[in-house]
Amino acid sequence: MRRAVCPGSFDPVTLGHLDIIGRASKLYDEVVVAVLINKSKKSMFTVEERIEMLGEVTAQYGNVTIDAFHGLLVDFCTARGINAIVKGLRAISDFDYELQMAQMNHGLQGVETLFMPTNPLYSFLSSSLVKEVATYGGDVSGLVPDLVWHRLTQRLAES
Ligand code: PNS
Repeated sequence: MRRAVCPGSFDPVTLGHLDIIGRASKLYDEVVVAVLINKSKKSMFTVEERIEMLGEVTAQYGNVTIDAFHGLLVDFCTARGINAIVKGLRAISDFDYELQMAQMNHGLQGVETLFMPTNPLYSFLSSSLVKEVATYGGDVSGLVPDLVWHRLTQRLAES
């Protein structure tokens, strides 16, 4: 069975993430979306909330599961017997750091990284930008799944 991991913070998941996950799900028998647990980073949504949103928006694919991890991504991959990581590349500026991580991950435990070009519709998109724009009242409804847009609007109204 061919399996791959799509890792990230997903705070929150955007249409850019979803595009990569959906395309990866056509290439692999199973795709595990791995949410990084990073207690030192301030987040808008808890890991549980992110997992729940990811579960709902990826249910359409049928072969995508959601999990969380802390520590090294390669340890997560090895523990589950997965040797491929799929990452979206938005622009050449992503490449420098992504290449370093890919080489490090391969060097550490032989885990391969496959880069997938982001859909140009989403090449400017990031979770942090979505949060910033939404915080100041900008319209992000076309950039995140509907469910996420509702949760984001709700969260901002609470704060
Ligand atoms: O969505 P993000 O925050 O850009 O995702 C980054 C992520 C989670 C893929 C990356 O930070 C990561 O893999 N973190 C786990 C820690 C780790 O393995 N670090 C060494 C990388 S070579």
